[in-house]
Amino acid sequence: MIIALNHKSNLNKEEYEKYIEDFSTIKTNHKMILCPSFVHLNNKTPNHVILGSQNVGLFDNGAHTGEISAQQLKSYHVEYTIVGHSERRKEEKESLKDIHQKMQQLFQNNIIPILCVGETKKEREAGKVEEVLEKEIITATENLTSEEREKLIIAYEPIWSIGTGLIPSNKEIIKTIRFIKHLLPNTKVLYGGSVTEENIDIIKSISIIDGYLLGGLSLKIEQLKILLEKLN
Ligand code: 13P
Repeated sequence: MIIALNHKSNLNKEEYEKYIEDFSTIKTNHKMILCPSFVHLNNKTPNHVILGSQNVGLFDNGAHTGEISAQQLKSYHVEYTIVGHSERRKEEKESLKDIHQKMQQLFQNNIIPILCVGETKKEREAGKVEEVLEKEIITATENLTSEEREKLIIAYEPIWSIGTGLIPSNKEIIKTIRFIKHLLPNTKVLYGGSVTEENIDIIKSISIIDGYLLGGLSLKIEQLKILLEKLN
């Protein structure tokens, strides 16, 4: 399985160093993609970890103050990048067009995007889950080759589930992931949103999930170890 870890804006220098030390004690065969803050990308990572980032700039190297380009990420051995996380769509006003452009930047530099999609509580209550996801997926993947579509990873993260302790029922998750796989037949789909070492007992029975995108849990090594053992 793919286990992607989104640290978000957490861990200062010392905390990250300690985290990596503790992380080195994890033994797992799962594909672990660690997405720390940009400031930690140059730090050592354990051998069994693949490096990811949480964002990418819209442009090539050049006069774009404060941005980090896909070329720069590649030079730090970043192999995956989270794109279109709902926190960025909301807080940074990231548009569908921006997300499409970032996808292009990443593929041009051989970095695999982990495209986050998901509905708000209001959209869910209005029965618009599939409509929202279709729009997010179709616009972001426009012009991608079939090879790129197969490399791409989608993370289904219902916005109302992120950091709230609420998760959809297995039945709802299955329905939504089936819908995503219908749009992109050969693309891997992760689930994200309040996944813990406890509720994994329920979610793990969903066989069409290719992995998980973990937020809060990614920072807690002991709980993370329990989750990984349960997925074995
Ligand atoms: P939580 O696991 O903290 O709900 O966050 C999920 C997430 O946003 C991962 O990208």
